Amino acid sequence: MSRRVVTLAHYYTEPHIQQMADKVGDSLELSLYAKECEADTIVFAGVRFMAETAKILNPQAEVILPDRGSTCSLVTQTDVTALKAWRESYPDHVHVSYINSSAEHKALSDWIVTSRNVDDIIAHLYAEGKKVIFSPDRNMGAYLNFQYDYDMPLWSAVCEVHDKFNQAALDEAFAAIKGDKYLIAHPESPLPVLQKADYVGSTSGMLNWIKAYDQAPDAVIFVATEDGILYNMRKARPDMKIEQAPIYAGCQCNQCPYMKLNTQQAVERAQAGEGIRIDYLSEAQMDAARLPIERMLDFSR
Ligand code: 13P
Ligand code: SF4
Repeated sequence: MSRRVVTLAHYYTEPHIQQMADKVGDSLELSLYAKECEADTIVFAGVRFMAETAKILNPQAEVILPDRGSTCSLVTQTDVTALKAWRESYPDHVHVSYINSSAEHKALSDWIVTSRNVDDIIAHLYAEGKKVIFSPDRNMGAYLNFQYDYDMPLWSAVCEVHDKFNQAALDEAFAAIKGDKYLIAHPESPLPVLQKADYVGSTSGMLNWIKAYDQAPDAVIFVATEDGILYNMRKARPDMKIEQAPIYAGCQCNQCPYMKLNTQQAVERAQAGEGIRIDYLSEAQMDAARLPIERMLDFSR
């Protein structure tokens, strides 16, 4: 019997890679799909923490990452030994970690969140009277503290792509447009950028905002996130003026070097069984990391 190979792709991969996938989505959608799909092999055209999450949620499946280099700066900027000491210095706090983290990091967490459910999960914890620490994304944590008047101690790592969005460059781009303009942004962006945004949310959230847009037809919509998803946005709404937000005046390029390692050749090789097998996590590591992820999935159902 032939092996069932399922290919997943994040919105930040190139359009032709998304076209090779059975499912394209944000971190939450891809995690759920990985857990529930009946696959012998999952090829994850994304980055390593996503492939590790897929393996943790579907340990029966073989999970292959097309390229060894597909990491994430939120992972590489977090030393897990230092994180453990930080977590232990807040013994009466709940530790909420963003899904952009290693399996070891997840195992030191009480809850995992994605950019889609982070607002609701932290609101739920505060409503229960809990004290919360948040890792690893400093920008996302700063935004939550600002937006909801929380006082969460924050770990300090950033997304090297979103951290480049810049308020002064946006002011300049806005000033150059006479008519209506909007900014939608991913919460990994710096706080001054998020404070200017008309909408802040996950990749799917921003895409849904674009699909539902019904304001001035000539408005320019600036998008502060990785450029892969502009393909999905322009395809959904060819009538709209959708622009990459600038990172500095004159430069509109913002690409994740790790997502872009998912080339056609690498994905085809992975579909044929070659690539980085996520087979190095022990049962104990996977069990410890699964607990806070399942807590999130139960909450989000
Ligand atoms: P989403 O969960 O919003 O898709 O974000 C994943 C990511 O890596 C953003 O940089
Ligand atoms: Fe990580 Fe940023 Fe790339 Fe997302 S865009 S995978 S957060 S480096």
